[in-house]
Amino acid sequence: MQAADQGRKGLKLAVAGKGGVGKTTLVALLAREAHARGWRVLAVDADPDANLATTLGYRGPIRPLAEEEELIRERAGSQGFVALNPRVDDIPERHWVEVGGIRLLVLGGIRRGGGGCACPANALLRALLRHLVLDRDELVVVDMEAGIEHLGRATAQGVDALLVVVEPDLRSLETAARILPLAREIGLGRVWAVGNKVEGAEDEEFLRENLPPGLDLLGSVPYLPELRRLEKVGSPPVPPQIKALFSRLLQALGPHTAPKPPTPS
Ligand SMILES: Nc1ncnc2c1ncn2[C@@H]1O[C@H](COP(=O)(O)OP(=O)(O)O)[C@@H](O)[C@H]1O
Ligand SMILES: [Mg+2]
Repeated sequence: MQAADQGRKGLKLAVAGKGGVGKTTLVALLAREAHARGWRVLAVDADPDANLATTLGYRGPIRPLAEEEELIRERAGSQGFVALNPRVDDIPERHWVEVGGIRLLVLGGIRRGGGGCACPANALLRALLRHLVLDRDELVVVDMEAGIEHLGRATAQGVDALLVVVEPDLRSLETAARILPLAREIGLGRVWAVGNKVEGAEDEEFLRENLPPGLDLLGSVPYLPELRRLEKVGSPPVPPQIKALFSRLLQALGPHTAPKPPTPS
């Protein structure tokens, strides 16, 4: 490991955006690209409608962390007594599955209650997200549901960057416009838009013209037929546009997030 990387805190990325825009696809490809570059990658599926595992090519049952009721009770307490800072450091190790060198953790449904529910599952999952950022020297990339409402302030502050995926259409831009002030409010790190299924200069222009003020376009990925069924066995190589996007992201985030060289085996 290079001296400059020592003690570097993990880089945590969250990916949000309207349903169907390509969040899961982007997460899977960024995870694969980072892994290829020597990052230790933990991909977290935080969308209750989880399909990151399948997209990464994993076949087989996965028990989402949210269903580990006993563990949640043990760590986070019961409804009447909720530990604010449950122990979570060993949870990823026990619960990830590995697919193509990428560790994958499926959270399952984070239950939400009106007025900021403090249910134990929430406490545990939030602590987990926070911990993954603060203590680990690795890339954590989180596939979120459309919005970011369930991220508390404490969790959000561990997130280095939020990528809001948009398609060149007004509906996904509307969702982006709703996400941005929320991200600001909870103190989420850097926020960028990523265009997906962007066909040519006209689409790109449309995006730039219609992005909410303050939300910059980090980069765009074209419509690529081979990405339509990314989950098929022997998934296609990571497209050059994703490689470029990852490089641009690291550059924009600054030198402390330089990828580590691959660990010698
Ligand atoms: N750049 C792309 N080119 C072609 N198809 C894409 C692209 N990005 C995503 N898709 C396809 O669009 C659909 C929705 O993508 P997905 O990643 O599941 O979206 P989300 O997670 O935001 O709901 C999937 O069928 C996926 O394969
Ligand atoms: Mg998805």
